[in-house]
Amino acid sequence: MAGDDQRQGGVDSGDRVEPPPSFVEQANVTDADVRARFEGDWPDCWAAAADLLDWETDYDAVLGGERPPFRWFDGGRLNACHNCVDRHLGDRKNQVALTWEGRLGESRTYSYLDLHREVNEFAAALRDLGVAEDDVVTLYMPVVPELVVAMLACARIGAPHSVVFAGFSADALATRMAAADSTYLVTCDGYYRRGAPVHQKNKADNAAIALDDDVEATVVVDRLGDDAPLGDDEYDYEDLVTEYRGATVDPVPRASTDQLFLIHTSGTTGEPTGVRHTTGGYLAHAAWTSRAVLDLEPEDTHWCSADIGWITGHTYTVYGPLAVGATTMLYEGTPDHPEKDRVWELIERNAVDVFYTAPTAVRAFMKWGEQYPEAHDLSSLRLLGTVGEPINPRAWKWYHEHIGGGDCPVVDTWWQTETGGMMVTTLPGVDTMKPGSAGPPLPGVDARVVDAAGDPVDPGETGFLVLTRPWPGMPLSMVEDDGWFADHDPARPDLSGFEWAYGTEDGATVDEDGYVTLLGRVDDVVNVSGRRFATMEIEAAIADVEGVAEAAVVSGPHDLKGRAIYAYVSAAEDAAEADLREDVADAVADAIGPVAEPDVVVFTPELPKTRSGKIMRRLLEAVASGEDLGDTSALRNPEVVGELESALADRDR
Ligand code: WTA
Repeated sequence: MAGDDQRQGGVDSGDRVEPPPSFVEQANVTDADVRARFEGDWPDCWAAAADLLDWETDYDAVLGGERPPFRWFDGGRLNACHNCVDRHLGDRKNQVALTWEGRLGESRTYSYLDLHREVNEFAAALRDLGVAEDDVVTLYMPVVPELVVAMLACARIGAPHSVVFAGFSADALATRMAAADSTYLVTCDGYYRRGAPVHQKNKADNAAIALDDDVEATVVVDRLGDDAPLGDDEYDYEDLVTEYRGATVDPVPRASTDQLFLIHTSGTTGEPTGVRHTTGGYLAHAAWTSRAVLDLEPEDTHWCSADIGWITGHTYTVYGPLAVGATTMLYEGTPDHPEKDRVWELIERNAVDVFYTAPTAVRAFMKWGEQYPEAHDLSSLRLLGTVGEPINPRAWKWYHEHIGGGDCPVVDTWWQTETGGMMVTTLPGVDTMKPGSAGPPLPGVDARVVDAAGDPVDPGETGFLVLTRPWPGMPLSMVEDDGWFADHDPARPDLSGFEWAYGTEDGATVDEDGYVTLLGRVDDVVNVSGRRFATMEIEAAIADVEGVAEAAVVSGPHDLKGRAIYAYVSAAEDAAEADLREDVADAVADAIGPVAEPDVVVFTPELPKTRSGKIMRRLLEAVASGEDLGDTSALRNPEVVGELESALADRDR
């Protein structure tokens, strides 16, 4: 990251920024001893998170079991929908729970009372369609209010939801439904992208065909307003809520460790992994971090710009803000349509208090220029946040100054799909900020940077970020599985010296104050614009293209997106490069979705290989980043390096 900043104009990354007094005065957490307090009272300190929720049955212990299975809030029962909706009816039934800004400039608001009504109606409909407790319901929609209603309706009846990002392909949807054994689907007919309709239902239909029509019921939201005809076992969303008008469904009390939802993410295999989150631990973690880090209060309007199809949208658009009774804003569109001031216009119009986005977006805003935010009144903003990838100090400072007006703290929050919620970040009312560094672990979180032997590295030395204690938002696989980390991979740190530990697959350094700076993934997962893909999944799609002999996918730097996807393709002899280029893009779009299409495709007669025939990915990464290639003596075909470098130099950016 230091290199990045030198290139962009030189900023001293050793800066410190104190939280402004105006913020501290009103912050939810201002206690400078909070970390020591949590430390001295671990794990019972996490009762502070559980206490933010309503429990149908109180828990007996904050953490049952010092080894897996870890039962957070053991014995407790609760319902997530009750916590996000019903319990706010007493104090704030007419407060806006959800405000939605659509792609065509439309907006809609739901008070907590409205949300309660529609969630109940849809929950009743789902039940009558046959959805039983623990049945997985797949939700495949863009950011529309019906998606949130459907998530909460599932939570109400104890049916885990599996949200699949709307931009994913039919194949990707089918794989995820099959993997989750899910036979219920809620989707929409289509949606608008830059003013033009995208037909979502066709993709859902193709997925159903791929699943041999093993779909019991499909509910379709009429987003395009064209009343398209529906087939057997297909139901119009609006008709259902009308049919069930006024229906109520009692929230089903779930054990704290019962599954609330699953979400698929990219791991190091060719297949997406389903990460299952719990009800009590996850929701407590989401609520606590929404208060302590996002500083949300019920009267706040919060805008998390992530798509709900990713974990960030689950935790910080839906569950966290609604659990604390705030107003959550949903935006269906893109930041530059119709104009590049769209985001600032929306913040001004909705008087947004807290804005949470990805560094990629900040870099794009910075490139477009400060004239766009300057044309709007952004004085409602109190706090800014980022997530998904490292933010370079220059972008951090631009965000702080031009969006925050210099008096909003910026929280750079590190976490993962697997952690459920934030893990490493400054507390905005307590901690000094250091642009470029995420900050110390949250109170109660034990995050360390270790070397290959599992020993702590010295300040400034590079190592692996590991979490060495369970946390409330941990997923079910870690809750349940005893000794899951016992198989030690030699390319990973040795964690056997810890009672329990989770290797995050992120490289990091830590400074003398315990601030963690993230350096990116150490595995074959790449985060592009804050979205996560496995290079192997993309490789598998490319390798399927006729005319492709072999392909290797790595990540390389990108000025705006942070990381970009580079595909190196060696073609069969008679294949025409121009056709192949198109086929490669189509194959990735079909298998995963256009969002995973490689940014750069480099054709090469051969891939660089070691004498034992392994593709030298390190070399491909170095070529992509224009770095020194290091030792290439292990290569069987060293002549290919020159070809790769010139192909890369010639490519059209
Ligand atoms: C990266 C997104 C640097 C990291 C919530 C992690 C970050 C992966 C940050 C998880 C940050 C997330 N600074 N890197 N503040 N936040 N990451 O599962 O590599 O989509 O492992 O979860 O994003 O991506 P995921």
